[in-house]
Amino acid sequence: MKILVTGGTGYIGSHTAVELLNAGYEVLLGDNLSNSNEEVVQRIKTITGKQVQFEKIDFSDTEASSNFFEHHQGITAIIHFAASKAVGESVEQPLLYYRNNLVSLLNILDAMRKHAIKYIVFSSSATVYGQPDELPVTEKSPFQQANSPYGNTKQISEEIIQDSVKAYEQLHAIALRYFNPIGAHHSALIGELPLGVPNNLVPFITQTAIGLRKELLVFGEDYNTPDGSAIRDYIHVSDLAQAHVKAIDRMIHIENREAFEYFNLGTGTGSSVFEVINTFERVNQLKLNYRVVGRRAGDVEQVWADTHKANEELGWKAQLSLDEALSSAWKWEQFIRSI
Ligand code: UFG
Repeated sequence: MKILVTGGTGYIGSHTAVELLNAGYEVLLGDNLSNSNEEVVQRIKTITGKQVQFEKIDFSDTEASSNFFEHHQGITAIIHFAASKAVGESVEQPLLYYRNNLVSLLNILDAMRKHAIKYIVFSSSATVYGQPDELPVTEKSPFQQANSPYGNTKQISEEIIQDSVKAYEQLHAIALRYFNPIGAHHSALIGELPLGVPNNLVPFITQTAIGLRKELLVFGEDYNTPDGSAIRDYIHVSDLAQAHVKAIDRMIHIENREAFEYFNLGTGTGSSVFEVINTFERVNQLKLNYRVVGRRAGDVEQVWADTHKANEELGWKAQLSLDEALSSAWKWEQFIRSI
């Protein structure tokens, strides 16, 4: 069965391609290479020992998208990662974000109707919950007002999917709401490679450790948390990737379920910024240069996932520890800077 992975050479897309191939699926990758590199395709082949098809394609280009689906028949399901994801950039360039993230989704849903592709897994985010009233956050928590155009595209996308699934009987969808994906494949051949200065904590840590950045700035130590720094649910990207395979399996093989389902993907445990730093130093036997500064605008204080729904209905549970994630992130950073 052929699975189209949009954004397939990106961070989560490439790890998901590996897990799909390992599970025996045929994989077609589509990516506009705006934030990734075609070399990733070869690395996916090296890791899995399997063939994978790749095409450079921008799914927000309606004509190109339509042509793409004319040329690639026989797709059973789509995992849709292709999107812009920098929160700060989305505040500066909202139209770019609405166009990239929403038009691509519309084009893909149109193609699904036209070519009778029934299943889509959508890459959503815990950002839809904002700072939830109760922790851990369950799927029943209401959406909060999005605090960036990026976050808004995730909320609107889920609504577009929900309405489409209601209207078009043959369409089935699962939205996966990621908490904080970190780490890299254990081979260290694929991982996260942000363009420019990283926004996210772990790439900033690894780039500081390798000497690309002078120091890590810790944004705030006056939160109402045990050590004063903010808390997130950091999940290993390979665990996250496996959840996508489970979602595909579920849509294809299980009949008695809602046509639109959504799941939190996290470990169920929160870690503070200081805990992440200390763990990184311990597992990799090094010292990190860091300094505490004020809070970052728009950050929530603490959030972690209730994962019962994913555990029970998807049959998925995160397996890898924070130690493993931070050790793999460091191996990957060293590999990518050595070539
Ligand atoms: N942090 C630092 N220093 C840094 C970078 C981050 O102290 O240089 C802190 C942040 O303040 C936060 C924690 O590390 O407390 C995690 O920050 P990230 O940027 O790694 O992750 P966020 O939780 O802010 O981001 C996540 C997702 C985004 C999503 C966002 C919504 O990665 O996709 O939540 O708030 F949009």
